[in-house]
Amino acid sequence: MLGSLRFRLPALFLVGIVVSGVIAAAIALALFQSYAHKQLLVKLRREANGLTELYQKQAIAANDTGAHTLRFAPPQLERATGDKIFYVGADVFPDQVSGLRQLPQNTVDWRSGKARTFEFRPPGFTRTYLAVLQPMRLAPRSTPFGALIVATPKTEIASGLRRLLERLGLALIGGILAAAVLGWYLSRRITRPVLALSKATDEISRGHYDVDVPEVRGGGEVGHLAQRFREMASRLGEAEQQERNFLMSVSHELRTPLTAIRGHVDALREGIAADPAVRAASLDMIASETLRLERLVGDVLDLAKLEAQRFTLLSEEVDMGRLCEQAYAAFGEQARRRGIDYEKRFDESPTIVTDGDRVLQIISNLLSNAFRWTPDGGKVDLELGASNGSVSVAVDDNGPGVPLAERERIFRPFWTRDDSGTGLGLAIAHELAAALGGRIELQSEPGEGSRFELLLPAAPRD
Ligand SMILES: Nc1ncnc2c1ncn2[C@@H]1O[C@H](COP(=O)(O)OP(=O)(O)O)[C@@H](O)[C@H]1O
Ligand SMILES: [Mg+2]
Repeated sequence: MLGSLRFRLPALFLVGIVVSGVIAAAIALALFQSYAHKQLLVKLRREANGLTELYQKQAIAANDTGAHTLRFAPPQLERATGDKIFYVGADVFPDQVSGLRQLPQNTVDWRSGKARTFEFRPPGFTRTYLAVLQPMRLAPRSTPFGALIVATPKTEIASGLRRLLERLGLALIGGILAAAVLGWYLSRRITRPVLALSKATDEISRGHYDVDVPEVRGGGEVGHLAQRFREMASRLGEAEQQERNFLMSVSHELRTPLTAIRGHVDALREGIAADPAVRAASLDMIASETLRLERLVGDVLDLAKLEAQRFTLLSEEVDMGRLCEQAYAAFGEQARRRGIDYEKRFDESPTIVTDGDRVLQIISNLLSNAFRWTPDGGKVDLELGASNGSVSVAVDDNGPGVPLAERERIFRPFWTRDDSGTGLGLAIAHELAAALGGRIELQSEPGEGSRFELLLPAAPRD
């Protein structure tokens, strides 16, 4: 469960959201803190400036006239601003009159005459204060006689931060919930086809190739995977079907001559065929069926080796002209006997590097088919040519031709319309041509004839 894509995807999604939310919140808090701190200082400075000016004037007036006429009431000011106002310095503002909170002289250095910012805990207070000190002078540039300090509790910033944190937390929780729902939905969308594919793989591993691989909407990588997977499943199914067919055909093909042979042998043993002529006919039958069996077994073995690619092919220089001449000559006698117009047309005589015996096997096969299907008095041609990088050997006939629906089938093993044939000839020729780096092409006009063309690369393969 925890290892499944369905769980991991949304989990990853959520972790991403949480991490980025926390980072964003941390940055926002840090920014807010420094901003709030600065704003607070600006406010304190402004207040300190104004108040200092007020008290300074009073002090100057009092110094000039000797009268204490302090009209300002710090408690009210404090209430109005929410800040605390302190005084440190010479005893100019008597407590009872000014109402200012006096600080001991050594609380902070005020004699330097410079305005400054600092943090401190005023005597009798429990909290730390952020404070701005502003010196007071009787005359510009004279030694200060004291300083006014405006301070505000530091917790002010902290409480602002807490409020912000609460809101950010709420926003983060909302974001996580939304992301969880979205992540769950998206991951389901992504994983559904993957899960379906994985189920289909299970089916295939159990040997059920006709699985229903679901369509994936919107394409993408998973769609591509599903498409290829569907093709793979159907190929596997076909391959298995072919293998089964092949096996069944082989056993069937082997059984037919064997049954015939056994019948004749039984008859001979039981002495049913006493007549020497019948006996001789039986023996002839046995001999020819044995020959057929031998050929069949040889062909099946060839094909099996070819399909398993366990076939050793020679690489030798082959004079295609001479080779075609040899193939052509083998059917000359038959052509004369059956009155077939048998012609050769060798436009070129290329020499290529290939396996001569195998090429001869293919051409002989095509010629034997042409003679098999061409009626007496018909026409068969053998052509040799070369053009752009390939050598072509074509066998033309004016037999019945091959119907469109059978063009692919005739190259499959055991597919035959010939009662005495095995249906292996073209299958072997097709595999051999492929093994030699070439192919066989078929053009046929049903009722008119066929043209089987073997195409081989003129240059050897790497
Ligand atoms: N030249 C041709 N003209 C018409 N049909 C052909 C020709 N060559 C092959 N075929 C068809 O292809 C089938 C398969 O041929 P092949 O593989 O050589 O097996 P076989 O010769 O044993 O029947 C034949 O049974 C026939 O129906
Ligand atoms: Mg044949």
